[in-house]
Amino acid sequence: MKNSPPIHITQIPSLAKKIASQLKGGEIFALIGPLGAGKTAFVKAIGKALKLKHHITSPTFTLLHGFPIKLSGRKIMLYHLDLYRTKNFKEVKALGLAEFWGQPHTITFIEWADKIKKHLPKKTQILTFFHE
Ligand SMILES: Nc1ncnc2c1ncn2[C@@H]1O[C@H](COP(=O)(O)OP(=O)(O)OP(=O)(O)O)[C@@H](O)[C@H]1O
Ligand SMILES: [Mg+2]
Repeated sequence: MKNSPPIHITQIPSLAKKIASQLKGGEIFALIGPLGAGKTAFVKAIGKALKLKHHITSPTFTLLHGFPIKLSGRKIMLYHLDLYRTKNFKEVKALGLAEFWGQPHTITFIEWADKIKKHLPKKTQILTFFHE
């Protein structure tokens, strides 16, 4: 797993632009950090960079949002998960939330992924957010 240096909310727009420009499909991002640190703001910024028409909101209560996008003409599903209200990996799996992680036609962003850190696929990129 690849760890990033801690990310401050003011760095989100430029970082999201950079990451969005490198997406190919199959990526998994674990978004870690306290309440209000910018995890959802980061996914919103990715949506903006990809010119997504959907309005990205927090999946705190719905657990999962999915958006179809196109990357160099290929159809990709962008998944945005929030595990804040889930108990453990067993529950995440039982809800079917882990089925698509890492598949080449998907890109997955997981808020509160630290709750299930040891179950994340090896290629997961960890983004840690902080506030003062
Ligand atoms: N440039 C900025 N400077 C300071 N604050 C900002 C800036 N951009 C966004 N914010 C605020 O920072 C907060 C980030 O909240 P966000 O919902 O992204 O956090 P989160 O990490 O997803 O929290 P949660 O754990 O509740 O899901 C929001 O209140 C947003 O309005
Ligand atoms: Mg959030």
